[in-house]
Amino acid sequence: ITGDAKAGAKVFRKCAACHNVDEAKNKVGPHLVDIIGREMASVEDYKYSKAMVEYATEVPAWTVEALDAYLRDPKGVVKGTKMAFVGLKKDEDLENVIAYLNDPAAA
Ligand code: HEM
Repeated sequence: ITGDAKAGAKVFRKCAACHNVDEAKNKVGPHLVDIIGREMASVEDYKYSKAMVEYATEVPAWTVEALDAYLRDPKGVVKGTKMAFVGLKKDEDLENVIAYLNDPAAA
């Protein structure tokens, strides 16, 4: 993980309306505590789309690579996902937000 968590915290403002990363509480989207390495679609009390549940059978866990792909183009990568987000286009933003997700306390 090469990004900068502090810069990633700013990028995360685009996500924060729908996601908590520092407490295990869902919003419109599932919480993202310990998301790197976490099993896909695995928050017990969260109702995922069918598309995400199916995707999870192909790609078992959220690796850096899987996050990068999904966050670049959510609806392109998980066709039918209910995450209403266009995606991040800049490599830098992706690297930084992933660093922040990896260690929010570092920001
Ligand atoms: C799902 C990250 C922006 C709503 C997810 C998942 C990740 C993620 C990793 C899968 C979680 C899992 O498998 O448990 C992010 C990041 C964002 C972002 C880093 C910003 C760059 C948003 C925004 C919204 C949103 C703005 C609301 C408008 C959702 C929803 C899901 C989801 C509803 C569930 C998807 C489904 O079941 O198909 N997000 N997200 N996300 N996110 Fe986001």
